Amino acid sequence: MDKNSIYILAIESSCDDTGVAILQNDNVLSNVVANQEIHTKYGGVVPELASRAHQQHIIPTIIEALKQANIDKSELSAIAFTEGPGLLGSLFVGSAFAKSMSMSLQIPLIGINHMQAHIMAHFIKEEGYTNPKFPFLCLTVSGGHTQIVKVSDYFSMTVIGETIDDAVGEAFDKSAKLLGFPYPGGPYIDKHAQLGNPKAYDFPHPKTKKVLDFSFSGLKTSVLYFLQRNLKENPNFIKENLNDICASIQDTIIQLLLKKLKRAADLHQINDIAIAGGVSANSGLRKALREAEQTFGWNTFIPKFEYTTDNAAMIGIVGYYKYLKQDFSPLSVSPKARLKL
Ligand code: KG4
Ligand code: ZN
Repeated sequence: MDKNSIYILAIESSCDDTGVAILQNDNVLSNVVANQEIHTKYGGVVPELASRAHQQHIIPTIIEALKQANIDKSELSAIAFTEGPGLLGSLFVGSAFAKSMSMSLQIPLIGINHMQAHIMAHFIKEEGYTNPKFPFLCLTVSGGHTQIVKVSDYFSMTVIGETIDDAVGEAFDKSAKLLGFPYPGGPYIDKHAQLGNPKAYDFPHPKTKKVLDFSFSGLKTSVLYFLQRNLKENPNFIKENLNDICASIQDTIIQLLLKKLKRAADLHQINDIAIAGGVSANSGLRKALREAEQTFGWNTFIPKFEYTTDNAAMIGIVGYYKYLKQDFSPLSVSPKARLKL
């Protein structure tokens, strides 16, 4: 243990993954995630089952994170936890545990905004990774959100565009469900898309009133009608063309995202562009962004794979920066399902 370091234990429980991480300043010592398999057979997250699974996973996950970090709980400087947005029942489990721990160890409690944390994952210290410089734009794409955020400082973030209906992760998951994949289907589409032709099929690009907003609800409907039409003629249509269908759906989504991101970069005259959130794990999106370095002259920032989907290391890094500001939460803090950025 280094007496001059700050040790944060961070808890993430906003949706269906229980995450616990230990950070020493901006370094991640351990980052443990317990996934919940239970939702696969229901085709989506069942909130009540998620809360129950968090209850079962939280203590073993904390013990494992402390063990991997080789830290005793008496050495911790503060407890950070996800305050919102997310499923209320899931958030309650993490927050109640965080409060009890902060109280019993008599160390500060730090409530964290989950969406800010996805973006701040770019400030975790990693060998060979250069942090973005302010201001930059971040495309935050997850199962619950799709936003373009102007990031002016660690704590100054403005949403300049967002989805008016479904999140991009939902577009992936709902399309995947129509193709017969289990939940969450995004990674399956990604895997098959790598073997298919992205220009095999066309799906429409929706229009939005505000130029930087997104709309994804129409995509699911057009995929549904497209499949119904083709299955009528050939009952094996999905099986025989799965890779091409996945590649075409994924390509449509990536084109939609990149088009808006380019508009945002031009309008705000910012060339430093980051991506964050679960969908930033998508190999096609990562490749498209890397290519944009050449085509648009951007500096791009792509998070390490393990910091894309929900994890507690990203909660811990915000915890560290809030600790430096002594920005702590009262023990009366209550999680919020709809916490804004
Ligand atoms: O950030 P995240 O773990 O949870 C939320 O805060 O929502 O994001 C989960 C979303 C799911 O919709 C999942 O299908 C999607 O991220 N996802 C992917 C990939 N990996 C995860 N979507 C497309 N391609 C992937 N490789
Ligand atoms: Zn998330």
